[in-house]
Amino acid sequence: MPTFESRHGLDSRAGTTLFLKRWLRRPFAMGAVIPSGRLLAEEMARATVEALEGRPGHVVELGAGTGEVTKALLAAGIPPTSLALVERDPELAAFLRRHFTEPQVIEGDAARLPRLLAEHGTAPIAAVVSSLPLLSLPTDIVNGIVNGVFDALPRGAALIQFTYGPTPPVPRTLRQGLRLVGSRGRRIWRNVPPAVVWTFRRPAAA
Ligand SMILES: C[S@@+](CC[C@H](N)C(=O)[O-])C[C@H]1O[C@@H](n2cnc3c(N)ncnc32)[C@H](O)[C@@H]1O
Repeated sequence: MPTFESRHGLDSRAGTTLFLKRWLRRPFAMGAVIPSGRLLAEEMARATVEALEGRPGHVVELGAGTGEVTKALLAAGIPPTSLALVERDPELAAFLRRHFTEPQVIEGDAARLPRLLAEHGTAPIAAVVSSLPLLSLPTDIVNGIVNGVFDALPRGAALIQFTYGPTPPVPRTLRQGLRLVGSRGRRIWRNVPPAVVWTFRRPAAA
């Protein structure tokens, strides 16, 4: 039976090699040595579908890298034309464009998210899925990214973010300032390193 990779002309080894190459160049921006494993990517996609609750609009993926989470989102039934991939690294953005023809690939900095989405006419937004290495980014950049995400999302819509750490990936001061409610998924032990998927929302009535 053909795999998702063979049907979409994807070569995982080429993706892993490129990922490692980019990590050697910018370790803090990459946040991991190798792409997310299949089980973590599937858990991100499952949490996204659950969080959508049928809400119409685009799913925006931040830090799409070599597309491991992208593949899982597509396999979980997110329509490719409703998927927008934001990636700052030009080589990775070019890789995504070559391998995913239907989703919109936006090369740019997630810290400028509302502006990037407006420039590309990407609206409305139903959910944001992030693999950004929030733990290894400076506080002011994390503040800019998370505030931008919740400026772009309507109330009640979710940010899905994984972390390797024991605490929520969105810092407490930001959670309190934005009145975010976070829910923690189970730890995916069979990922290198093991990771947890969190879902954050600003409740509709907050
Ligand atoms: C941990 S990797 C995740 C890649 C992929 N989603 C995965 O799970 O395998 C983080 C990705 O975020 C990208 N990135 C880091 N900072 C970014 C920013 N400010 N804006 C957009 N992308 C960024 C990196 O280039 C890298 O591709």
